[in-house]
This record gives sequence, structure tokens and C-alpha cells, in this order.
Amino acid sequence: MVSRFRGQDILSSEQFDLSALDEIFSVVDRCVPIANGSLKTDVLSGAVLGSLFFEASTRTRLSFDAAFMRLGGSVSATTGVTFSSIVKGESIKDTGRVVGGYFDICVFRHAHEAALEEFANASEVPVINAGNGAGEHPTQALLDIYTIHKEFGKRKKRIEGSCIVLAGDLRYGRTVHSLAKLLSLYGAAEIRLVSPRGLRLPEVIEEKLRDSGHKVSIFSSLEEGLLSSDLVYMTRVQKERIPLAERADHECESFVLDRKLADKVMKKDCVIMHPLPRDSSAGAHDLSDDMDDDDRIAIFRQSDAGVPVRMALFACVLGVEDELEKSSVSPKWTKVRSRL
Ligand code: NCD
Repeated sequence: MVSRFRGQDILSSEQFDLSALDEIFSVVDRCVPIANGSLKTDVLSGAVLGSLFFEASTRTRLSFDAAFMRLGGSVSATTGVTFSSIVKGESIKDTGRVVGGYFDICVFRHAHEAALEEFANASEVPVINAGNGAGEHPTQALLDIYTIHKEFGKRKKRIEGSCIVLAGDLRYGRTVHSLAKLLSLYGAAEIRLVSPRGLRLPEVIEEKLRDSGHKVSIFSSLEEGLLSSDLVYMTRVQKERIPLAERADHECESFVLDRKLADKVMKKDCVIMHPLPRDSSAGAHDLSDDMDDDDRIAIFRQSDAGVPVRMALFACVLGVEDELEKSSVSPKWTKVRSRL
């Protein structure tokens, strides 16, 4: 069966329903042996990805690149604005028109929310949103939901009926916007939105969660919000997006999740996630690294999922999802270690 995503742009989490998630996640599972180096494929041999990151990135950019290359394709990349023709005054529309003529598919990240649509409309080839300002980050949300299923599966839990905490900068954090939209597809969980006062989730997304039948409550104290929860999705304060004039409004009491707090208020089998990067600078309100060796911390299993999830999307959009097994062979090299 032809994937519904063949030839499509992937711009928002709103493009997915539960059956689409099932379809993608079954391809993800089949991509895992290729992502972890047990198998190799050249199914995308000859295809070229345009990787355009006009805003800072480490894991998203590198995992998109790794995903495309593990499928046998090649990647051509530009990063930052400084070395692009944008500094010469070129419009996003022209950039989209031009590069759409070079590549088979593009991955695009930009600090301005609206630049994505402008670029995607101008591009002849499918575009995947790798983060548009404070808007969305749909591929991160896919890997987040995939990870939630895996972690809850190990603990014999389900999204339905559990207590899920979205914490941190819910206003400017795009990963949480896309994740909340996907959580709206599932029924009847308790969703707690925990943020410093000025950084609450946009109302329309909060309404979407309520309309889908979740019990939604709002907290400004991390300790109260985390009490007896099954999962926390912690995010950093998006300092780069907060206008200078607003900064003082977001000053808050300590908003740090560390081992002491987790032990005090969270369940023993809770799951702690974070899209990363976490802010490790002094005084930051974020997830501490003092419990990284603890099995409750799923953040590196979560980032590992980035490669197979993005491979699955490329496979579906470029129409090779049914070729994965046929085209896979054992590599000559040995991968020493993999968490996947
Ligand atoms: C996030 C992003 O860029 O939105 N990072 C990521 O892609 N994993 C989260 C963040 O920067 O805080």
C-alpha cells in the first residue's frame, strides 16, 4: 500500500492521526536495525537531501543527516544565515524555488515561524519542518510519542489513564506544541501544564487538549505539578525567543528537576524526558544531570530514536518503505556498541 505521506510535506503534527502514527511507527521499528548498524541499505542511493538549518541545531540536523545517509542517500547542507544568500537580501521564497531544483527533498529550520510556509510553497520538492520559530517541531513530537510508547510499554502503562506533565517553557517551546497536538489524539489522560507564569501553553493548544477529553490542569510550582505523575516532559526556557522587555516577567522560583525532587514527588517507575539541549548554565531552570545514570531518565533513548523515526519519514515520503528489507544486507564493518 502506498504511504499517505508519499510526496507530501511534513510541516505540522496536525497532519497525523492515530492510524498515521501506527503506519509510521511500524516503519520506524523496521528502520531500527539499519539505524543501529546491524544492517545497511542503499535504498535511497542517488537521492540528495537539502539540509537547510538557518537556526542553531545539533541533534536534529545530525540525526536527519544520519537518517538519510543510513538509507544510502547523500546530503548537501547549509547552516546559519551568515553564509547564505539571505544576507544578500534574498527572500525565503526565492531560496525555496532555487534549492527545490537541486534536491529530492529538503529539511528546513528557521527562527521565523512564517518562513516555513513561504519556503514550502516555493519548493518543488517535499519539505520537512525541522523547527519553525516558536511554532512546531513535528518530527521531534513523533520521536517523543514513539519513546513514550516504548517507555510506557516497558512499565505496562498506556497514555490513556496516565498522568503526563509538560513542564518548562510551554509558550515558546515548539517541541511541546507539536507533542501536545499529538497527545490530543489519545483519550482521557491527566495532562498537567507546569510552567513559570509568563510561559504558559498557548490557549488554542490547551483547548485542543481539553476538547480531546483530557483532564488538563495548570501549575506554576514544579513540585506540585510533578506529584505522583507517570511521565514528565521537561523543556528549557527558550531564552533566544523571549523579547528582552518580557524577560523580567519570567523570573521564577527554582524550576529545576533533580534527583531529590524526583525521589520526593514522582512515582518510582516514572519516565523523565527532554527534547534536549538542556540548559546546564548556572541558575538555569531545567533538568539537572545528577540522575543521568538512573533508568527513569529516558533522554538518551529518546534522542537515539531520532534517527529511525526520521528514516521512516524519509522512506514514506520518498516511497521506499516497502523496499527496506529487500535492500538490506549485513555491513562488512562492526558497530561496537548501540543503545538502539
Ligand atoms: C529543540 C528545538 O530546537 O526546538 N531541540 C531539538 O530539536 N531537539 C528544543 C530546544 O531547543 O529547547
